[in-house]
Amino acid sequence: MIKILFLTIFCLIKSLSTLRNPLLFLSFDGLQSAKFEEFLIQNPNSNFSRIIRNGLKSDYLKPSTPTFTFPNHYTLITGLYPESNGIVNNVIYDPNYKEKGALKDNFDLKWYNSTEPIFYTAKKQGLKTASSFWISNNVWPRQPDIFLAFNRNYDPFLRIDELINWYIKFNLDFACMYFDEPDLTGHIYGPESNEYKQKIVFMDSVLGYLLNELERINILKKLNLIVASDHGMAQLDENQFIYLRDYVDLNLIDFDKSVIAIVSSIYPKTQDKLGELYEKLAKIPHMKVYLKNDIPKELHYSNNERIGPIVVFSDEGYRLMDKNYTYIDYGAHGYDANLTSMRAVFMAKGPNLRSGSVKPFENVNIYPLMCKLLEIKCLPNNASEVFSPDHLYNKYIQYECLQSDLCGGWADRLKGILSSYAFALITDRSLTIKLTKGCNLREILDPNEVDWNYEKTENKNLSETSINMGYDFGYSDKFKTDISMFTNLKNIDLIRVRGPMMFANGLRDNQNLTEKIKSLGYEPSKFHTAFQIHKWYSKLFKMNKKMKEKYDFYLKKMKPSSDTKLICIQIRKSDPGDKETDVFPETRFFDFVNSTFLNTSDTHKYTIFVASSKDYVKLDAKRYFKDNRVVYVDNSSFHIDVNVNECDQIENVLLEFNLMQNCDIGVVSHSGFGMLALLNRPDPFKDFYVFTKPYNDSMKMSNEEFISNWLNIATFVKFDKLGSVYFAP
Ligand SMILES: *[C@@H]1O[C@H](CO)[C@@H](O)[C@H](O)[C@H]1NC(C)=O
Ligand SMILES: *[C@@H]1O[C@H](CO)[C@@H](O)[C@H](O)[C@H]1NC(C)=O
Ligand SMILES: *[C@@H]1O[C@H](CO)[C@@H](O)[C@H](O)[C@H]1NC(C)=O
Ligand SMILES: *[C@@H]1O[C@H](CO)[C@@H](O)[C@H](O)[C@H]1NC(C)=O
Ligand SMILES: *[C@@H]1O[C@H](CO)[C@@H](O)[C@H](O)[C@H]1NC(C)=O
Ligand SMILES: *[C@@H]1O[C@H](CO)[C@@H](O)[C@H](O)[C@H]1NC(C)=O
Ligand SMILES: *[C@@H]1O[C@H](CO)[C@@H](O)[C@H](O)[C@H]1NC(C)=O
Ligand SMILES: *[C@@H]1O[C@H](CO)[C@@H](O)[C@H](O)[C@H]1NC(C)=O
Ligand SMILES: *[C@@H]1O[C@H](CO)[C@@H](O)[C@H](O)[C@H]1NC(C)=O
Ligand SMILES: *[C@@H]1O[C@H](CO)[C@@H](O)[C@H](O)[C@H]1NC(C)=O
Ligand SMILES: *[C@@H]1O[C@H](CO)[C@@H](O)[C@H](O)[C@H]1NC(C)=O
Repeated sequence: MIKILFLTIFCLIKSLSTLRNPLLFLSFDGLQSAKFEEFLIQNPNSNFSRIIRNGLKSDYLKPSTPTFTFPNHYTLITGLYPESNGIVNNVIYDPNYKEKGALKDNFDLKWYNSTEPIFYTAKKQGLKTASSFWISNNVWPRQPDIFLAFNRNYDPFLRIDELINWYIKFNLDFACMYFDEPDLTGHIYGPESNEYKQKIVFMDSVLGYLLNELERINILKKLNLIVASDHGMAQLDENQFIYLRDYVDLNLIDFDKSVIAIVSSIYPKTQDKLGELYEKLAKIPHMKVYLKNDIPKELHYSNNERIGPIVVFSDEGYRLMDKNYTYIDYGAHGYDANLTSMRAVFMAKGPNLRSGSVKPFENVNIYPLMCKLLEIKCLPNNASEVFSPDHLYNKYIQYECLQSDLCGGWADRLKGILSSYAFALITDRSLTIKLTKGCNLREILDPNEVDWNYEKTENKNLSETSINMGYDFGYSDKFKTDISMFTNLKNIDLIRVRGPMMFANGLRDNQNLTEKIKSLGYEPSKFHTAFQIHKWYSKLFKMNKKMKEKYDFYLKKMKPSSDTKLICIQIRKSDPGDKETDVFPETRFFDFVNSTFLNTSDTHKYTIFVASSKDYVKLDAKRYFKDNRVVYVDNSSFHIDVNVNECDQIENVLLEFNLMQNCDIGVVSHSGFGMLALLNRPDPFKDFYVFTKPYNDSMKMSNEEFISNWLNIATFVKFDKLGSVYFAP
C-alpha cells in the first residue's frame, strides 16, 4: 500500500488567547535542594516526581539575602530583593516608625507597604485570588479575595480541604499556599537527621493528597503548578554560638533598635560609637561584619532604611547571640545564599509550562513567570530574563485522525502519534491527540503523561497550521537533510498533523538536531520509534481498567506459568494490496514455526498466540498445532480503517497489540500492526521474523512488481536490526 505523498500547509490568522489556566504556587519552608534530590532518588515514584516528570525543574533555586523565611516569602510573591520589598529580616526595626516588630505578630500594612504581593495585584486586575498561610495574606487591605492566616496548629490536610473548597466555590485564577514543614523539623533535628528526611516523605504525602484532590475536582489537568522553597537548611553543632558579651561591651549597642540573629542589624548606642563598635565586632571570629555602605553589591542587601548601620553575617553553622540560648537544636538558615546548604528547590508543571530543566536561578525570577502565566501586568521587579517564551507553552503539536481523514490502521496512527511526540520533544511543544476515527481511543486508553487535551487548544485563539502528510513511506528522508519545514513554523502556536508520519527517524539523522536529542537524554542513533516505542508508548498510553481486565484474562491463558514460551503469529490475509484477496497462506507461517521452533523435546512449554484479520485462520492454527495450547482473542482484529465505526474492533486491535508485547518469539506478516507490536517489547529485536523480502532489492522494484511477485519473493526474514526488513518504523 504505497501511496503518493501529499502535503499541504495553510496558515490561519494569529490572534491572542483569552482563556487563562489557573495557577497554584506552593511553598515548602526550609526544603533544602540537596536533601530533596536525595529524597527523589530514594523515592522515584513520589508525589513530587509527579510534578517533575514532564515538568520544568532547576537543580536548585537561589534564595535572596538574608536567607530567612519572611524576607524570601515576600520576595517570591513580589519579585523584589528584600532590600526592595522592605522585609529585610524576620524582625525589623524601622527608623521612620521608631518601632521594632516581629513580623509573625505584626499585620499592619505599614510593615509591608513598599510593594504589593501578586495576589493583590492580580485581584486588582480582575482575577480571583486566594492565599493560604502565606506571609502578609492577612494584611488589610492588600489581601487576596480569600485567605487563611497562618496558624501553626492547623492540620495541613485540613488546609488542603479548605483550598479545595475554594476551588469548588470560586473560579480561582491564582492561589498560593504555604507549608511550614520541613523547616520546623529541620530546625530541631538538622537536615542530616532521619527526622528531616522523614518529614520530606510526610510532606510528599501532603502534596499527594493535594494533587489527588485537585484531580478529583478536575482542576489538576488545567492547572499550572509551581512548587518552591524559601531557603535550605544547615546542620548545626549545638555549641557554635557567638555570644556578643564575650567580645563587646554591651553598653555600646542599642538593643532597642538592633536585631541580633544569624544576620544581624546592629545600632550603636550613640552615633559617635559606630567606629569603635564596628572595630570590636570585626574582630569576632566566624562572622563577617560590614558597615552598611560596604556590603557587597551582589548581596542586594543595603539599600533600605530598615537595614542597620552595621550588618553581621554569621558563618555557616554559627549563630550570633545576645542572650543565653537554652534550646538544643541542630538546624538553621540565614547563611550565605551561595552556600549549598541554603539552596532551595524549584519545580513547575502545567499546560503552559514546557518540560525540561532550567538553569539554577535567583528566586526573584518566579514572580514574572507567574505574571506571564496569569497574563497580568507585573509591577517593577528585580527579575532577569530567566524564563523566556521557550519555557512557556502556548505551543502545541496535535496529531489528528478525524472521521474524514486518511489515517491508516492502528500502526499507521501509532507511528503518526509517536512521530508527533518525537517532534514535540525536539521542538518543545506540548503533544495533544485528537483521534476520533474508528473509535475514540479515550474509551479504551487512559491518558498517561500526555493528556487527551485537544479541547483546550480548540478553546484558545491560537495561530495554527495544518500539515497533511498523507501516506508517507520514506518521507522521513526529507528530515535527514532539511528540517526547515518545521523550523519555519517556530512561531505558530498549533501545528495540526494528519496522516501516518514516520519522520522521527529522519529527525534522528539530522546533524542539526544531534545536540538537542542528546540534551533530551537520548542516544541520537536510537532516537527512533523502533527503539523508543516501548518507552514512548508506555508514556503516552495506558489501558483503562476495563481493558486491563481483558488483557490480564488473556495473558493468563497465554502464559500460564513462568517457563511458558510464547510464540506469536500474526497473519494479515489481505496484505499487500488493498483488496481482501486472502493472499497469505497461513500454512507457510505454521510450517515455519513448526520446523524452526517446535523441533525440540520440550514443545509442551510452547503456547501459540494467533492474531489475524480472519477468524478461520485461528481455527486452522488450532487444528495444526494439536500438541500445543493455541490462544486467540475471540473476534478478528480487522484493519480498523476499513470498518470505521466499530469500537469493538479497535478494542481488539489494541488488546492484541498489548498482548504481543509478551511474546518470546514473533512471526508476523509484513504489516505495521504486527511489527510495531513486537517492537514494543522491552527487547524489540528478540526472535523476530517477518514474512517479507529482504530490504535491499525490494527498494528497486515497482509497486506492481512487488505485489504481483509477493508470494514468490517473500520469506521469513529475521528482523534483528534496523534495515533488515523493508519497513520504515
Ligand atoms: C479570537 O480572536 C478574534 C480576532 O482577534 C476575535 O474576534 C475573537 O473574539 C477571539 N475569540 C475568542 C474566543 O477570544
Ligand atoms: C507605608 O506606610 C507608612 C505608615 O503609614 C508611611 O509612612 C509610608 O510612607 C508608607 N510607605 C509607602 C511606600 O507607601
Ligand atoms: C503520595 O501521596 C499519597 C496521598 O497522601 C500517599 O498515600 C502516597 O503514599 C504518596 N506516594 C508515595 C509514593 O509516597
Ligand atoms: C548566661 O550564661 C552565662 C555563662 O554561662 C552565665 O554566666 C549567665 O549568668 C547567664 N545569664 C543568664 C541570664 O542566664
Ligand atoms: C555568589 O555567587 C555569585 C554567582 O552566582 C557570584 O557572582 C557572587 O560573587 C557569589 N558571592 C559570594 C559572596 O560568594
Ligand atoms: C529592584 O527593583 C526595584 C523596583 O524596580 C528597583 O528600585 C531596584 O533598584 C532594583 N534592584 C536592583 C538591584 O536592580
Ligand atoms: C543545519 O542548519 C544550518 C544553519 O541553520 C542550515 O544551513 C543547514 O541547512 C541545516 N542542515 C540540515 C541538515 O538541516
Ligand atoms: C530446529 O530447527 C532450527 C531451524 O532449522 C535449527 O536451527 C535448530 O537447531 C533445530 N533444533 C533442534 C533441536 O534440532
Ligand atoms: C511439525 O514438524 C514435525 C517435524 O519436526 C513433523 O513431524 C510434523 O508433521 C509437523 N507438523 C505438521 C502439522 O506439519
Ligand atoms: C466478539 O463479538 C461478539 C459479537 O459481536 C461479542 O458479543 C463479543 O463480546 C466479542 N468478543 C470480544 C472478546 O470482543
Ligand atoms: C540482497 O538480498 C538478497 C536476498 O534477497 C541477498 O542474497 C543479498 O546478499 C542482498 N544484498 C546485499 C547487498 O545485502
